[in-house]
Amino acid sequence: MDALNEIHDFLACETPLLWIEHALKNQDVLLIDHAHCEKKAASTAMTLMFRYVDRPDLLNKMSRLAREELIHFEQVLELLQARGIDYCHMSSAGYAGGMRKHVRNHEPARLIDTMIVGAFIEARSCERFAKLAPHLDEVLAKFYRSLLKSECRHYQDYLSLAEAYAGESIADRVAVFREAERELIESEDDLFRFHSGVPTENTAL
Ligand SMILES: [Fe+2]
Ligand SMILES: [Fe+2]
Repeated sequence: MDALNEIHDFLACETPLLWIEHALKNQDVLLIDHAHCEKKAASTAMTLMFRYVDRPDLLNKMSRLAREELIHFEQVLELLQARGIDYCHMSSAGYAGGMRKHVRNHEPARLIDTMIVGAFIEARSCERFAKLAPHLDEVLAKFYRSLLKSECRHYQDYLSLAEAYAGESIADRVAVFREAERELIESEDDLFRFHSGVPTENTAL
């Protein structure tokens, strides 16, 4: 898949093997957090629709994206039910917050940076779905392969919006977030989540 190569080029690092091993051993936690991630992705897209009412392209793309994320949410819920896993509250990983810390607070820089953060979150999700799929049972593998296609499209949507609204090269900003993202993914993490860093023996679920 060419798009997956593009994702690998965009990200500074691959998901560490330790995270994959931890995820495979804790699939219940992974799925519950995954459901939260889909819901949050929809919510973020809708927040942007309220904030940027004067950007028709963004409104269209985010509206469609929010609907897709909610469908993913329903699909994960169905999987949880089928597997007898109770959906429950879960504290978030530091990942999204760690990325948003670098977003500038004046417009239109805030908009451009927010779009770049969106692109990284979608790209990392896509990379993790692809990495996990070969090790999962047939049902979950098929589901994750289908998701990686939509998350790849979301990555492209966010990136093209960032480029369009910047009206100039965004390479320097992409580089800032690429490095921040690599740091979050390659550092040890005290919590295991879909977007967490490297687990250790003290990592909580
Ligand atoms: Fe999704
Ligand atoms: Fe997405």
